[in-house]
Amino acid sequence: MRKKIVAGNWKMNLDFAGAEELAAAVAERLEGEKLQCEVVICPPALYLEMATDFAEESVLKVGAQNVSNRDNGAFTGEISAAMLASLDVDYCIVGHSERRKYFHEDNAFLAGKVDKLLDHGLTPIYCCGELLEEREKENHFNIVEQQISEGLFHLNDSEFYNLVIAYEPVWAIGTGRTASPEQAQEIHAFIRGLIIKKYGRELADETTLLYGGSCNAKNARELFSQPDVDGGLIGGASLKATEFVQVVNSF
Ligand code: 13P
Repeated sequence: MRKKIVAGNWKMNLDFAGAEELAAAVAERLEGEKLQCEVVICPPALYLEMATDFAEESVLKVGAQNVSNRDNGAFTGEISAAMLASLDVDYCIVGHSERRKYFHEDNAFLAGKVDKLLDHGLTPIYCCGELLEEREKENHFNIVEQQISEGLFHLNDSEFYNLVIAYEPVWAIGTGRTASPEQAQEIHAFIRGLIIKKYGRELADETTLLYGGSCNAKNARELFSQPDVDGGLIGGASLKATEFVQVVNSF
């Protein structure tokens, strides 16, 4: 279902006390605000229960950063979709470029994770985006099309309805070099076009497309004002409560 979303991906940062402080500060700053979007925090897995406790008493939603592609059993170190569901986690990031790069997760493997999340009623935030050299060779449309078709186009209509896509150009992540609003709009419109071709306009119009990559309090408003940008997946700027809330208030 299409909605405006700002999600903070905390990545592998903060100790427990710091995470608790950040969740509390964000929840407190959002209290009583007239929000134009859904607000999601995605802490490290170890802190999810703490975060869902805050979510129970605030407007916050909670997302995990990763999930296993297996159901249960002898998979040391893994966390299943059922486990996330049992903590009332709402979302889960899948296919972040850092997982694609450092953990060699490919589109077919990620498709399995998407399935497990949907089976357990969680909303996948499926990430796509090209490397700098791919953009320089003007191959970014092909890369993103492949990531989306191989990772998601096995889903039926009702499954597809329950996911979010985040476009995160790898060259913009953690670099301070954000995509321009025009670049973001161009590729978001392209992604929506792919969905129109596969599932039809109605479903494409119901799909939430987030932008991620050096999105912060200074540039969020312009990015979010693009017609096909429905919000953001925020890294560095989500680690400071004041700045994150400024991003949240950028619609
Ligand atoms: P930055 O906002 O730090 O560039 O990170 C973006 C990101 O990877 C969110 O998932």
